Amino acid sequence: MRDRRARIGDHRSVIEDYKRLSEEIRQCTSCPLCSTRTTVVVDRGDPTARLLFVGEAPGQSEDALGEAFIGAAGQLLDEFIAGAGLADRKFLIINILKCRPPENKFPGDKDSAYGAEIVPKCLPWLDKQIELVNPRVVVLVGRKAAEWTVFRNKRPAPTMIELFGRWIQSDRYPKVEFFGIYHTAYLLRLRQENSVKAQEVEEKMRRTLAMAVAAIDGVLPELEPMLLKSPASKSRQLKFF
Ligand code: URA
Repeated sequence: MRDRRARIGDHRSVIEDYKRLSEEIRQCTSCPLCSTRTTVVVDRGDPTARLLFVGEAPGQSEDALGEAFIGAAGQLLDEFIAGAGLADRKFLIINILKCRPPENKFPGDKDSAYGAEIVPKCLPWLDKQIELVNPRVVVLVGRKAAEWTVFRNKRPAPTMIELFGRWIQSDRYPKVEFFGIYHTAYLLRLRQENSVKAQEVEEKMRRTLAMAVAAIDGVLPELEPMLLKSPASKSRQLKFF
């Protein structure tokens, strides 16, 4: 009983602190994307969830309505989440960037008006969200999410071929299990092409999300994790990368 009360108390303080953080994020003007956005997109879901999804950046629908992953790619992600049988249905979705980049061109991409140097201006928000939410499991939705969450662009991030379906551990977040999946926008494109690859990717998405959901309760995959050591750590090496 006392445990339950303590947990409710913890949840309350997370919710309060997270509300304050969200307000701060909504006021952000630290990069030029603040002058082209309609709304700041903080997240969608429950900040007391143990499962966190990290995507890239808001698109048009998200920018208009102020919630993460509510367009077609988000609806597909929701289908996978529902299919993974998350018992309490609790999850939170956030993005690397909180403001939509013009024409959805991620800063640093070759046709973007902005260089990759503006991305780190947004990362303190990501770090504070992860710290407050304190998730057990983080699913990295697409390569940009992996690059800026666990690889931090210190080196070229592994490709999605290397990351898809992988279990990743990072000494930057020692209590979190990470899993890499393709961005659902990519899967939507594959589906439109009616390619066999779409079915393969879907099947593997399901398996990876099942692993992620099991990991919430400490049931870890029978796979070798990709172990990341940040440059600041003693060995200054990435064990596998
Ligand atoms: N794609 C993303 O990565 N995030 C969103 O919020 C919407 C589309």
